[in-house]
Amino acid sequence: MATSPSAPLRVLTGITPSGTPHLGNYVGSIRHSVRQSVAPGVESFFFLADYHALIKVQEPALIQRSTLEIAASWLACGLDPERVTFYRQSDIVEIPELTWFLTCVTGKGVLNRAHAYKAQLDKNIAKGEDPDADVTAGLFMYPVLMGADILMFNAHKVPVGRDQVQHIEMARDMAQRFNHQYGEHFTLPEAEIDDAVATLPGLDGRKMSKSYGNTIAMFAPRAQLQKQIASIVTDSRAPGEPKDTEGSALFQIYQAFASAEETEALRKAYAEGIGWGDAKQMLFERIDLEVAPLRARYEALMNDPAEIERILLIGAEKARKLARPFMAELRHAVGLRNLAAGAGKGGARKAKVAKPSFKQYRERDGLFYFKLLDASGAALLQSRGFASPQEAGRAIAALQQQRGAALATLADRLEPAGPEELRAANEALEALAEATAPTNGS
Ligand code: TRP
Repeated sequence: MATSPSAPLRVLTGITPSGTPHLGNYVGSIRHSVRQSVAPGVESFFFLADYHALIKVQEPALIQRSTLEIAASWLACGLDPERVTFYRQSDIVEIPELTWFLTCVTGKGVLNRAHAYKAQLDKNIAKGEDPDADVTAGLFMYPVLMGADILMFNAHKVPVGRDQVQHIEMARDMAQRFNHQYGEHFTLPEAEIDDAVATLPGLDGRKMSKSYGNTIAMFAPRAQLQKQIASIVTDSRAPGEPKDTEGSALFQIYQAFASAEETEALRKAYAEGIGWGDAKQMLFERIDLEVAPLRARYEALMNDPAEIERILLIGAEKARKLARPFMAELRHAVGLRNLAAGAGKGGARKAKVAKPSFKQYRERDGLFYFKLLDASGAALLQSRGFASPQEAGRAIAALQQQRGAALATLADRLEPAGPEELRAANEALEALAEATAPTNGS
């Protein structure tokens, strides 16, 4: 099997489950990210940021409901859990641990400047209250938790709205500081703002947002969708009078769903004085055309929460296949180490992990294999067959250079290993790197 010439682009998308998904979420994020997830050369991570939800929502039933609804929405919109890594943040126990590591390299001053936190302070000050009134440490730490989400999977791109760009920059900053202190472990992420992705206006013409209470629910039953669309604010022009498309929320929402020709047709109808009632009917029909099949899938999924739970747990296992060895690497990097395994300069090294080695060989099937052995010759890792010794050699080089991270990326070229075996292999790779690194001083 040929190996791909370049590593896939990792794209990571998170949604906080703190409410019911609306058409603004669909047009602004879900639709686009699901489409992007099937692009060749892209490796996508989608997750429900339920730890983040705890910062804003203190109603347990609402958290549970919203997590279910958003998971069902993504699946209904065509997210393929076989193809992407789809999980719930709180299932990845490594995330809070990484959050702590990042906390310890993040300047408090940096967090002081975070918009969401500052906005709350400014509001308090304006009201003449204690600046910290109603500010939890959770709100203050929000960007660090988000940094852990992103850096855990070494995402290259993070599609976000403009309001989240600062958080991505902070994550970059955390990655840089950590790498500077402990060696190159993290990829520096970049925000991806797609200006082609519309911000949808809401019922009142302002941006569609839960906080304005102007949303159209994404999977409302047909009748309710029609009622909500009927309440879109328009002007008082009568049927027969030409209408302005400029600044018309109804027109903009239509445009987000319609083809260029359909949009042109509505523009013409506006000029010819279509009545608002008829225009709303057109909008309703157009949205329903796109949403109806999704709604049917959504309803089926909502009726089977156990299936969604199952999908998320499989996704969590897939994500943790990467997170577990990576976290072991990071623990080692910061000095949370097995005390018996090489106590640093001058310290007595335990022979067992002091000099691990790779052994390459050819099997009778004609393929090339390798093993990672500990100093006593016991196998820690067993590769699968490679077509050429060069390919096997490249995999070994990746393990030597990237260690834990390569354990994750090479997972399908290695025989499956349990968490304990992976940990031991990771320790051995670290010890090997340390033993071969040029030392300074005695
Ligand atoms: N803060 C994001 C929001 O409210 C959700 C989120 C949490 C997120 N962690 C993330 C988005 C990591 C992208 C990457 O929209």
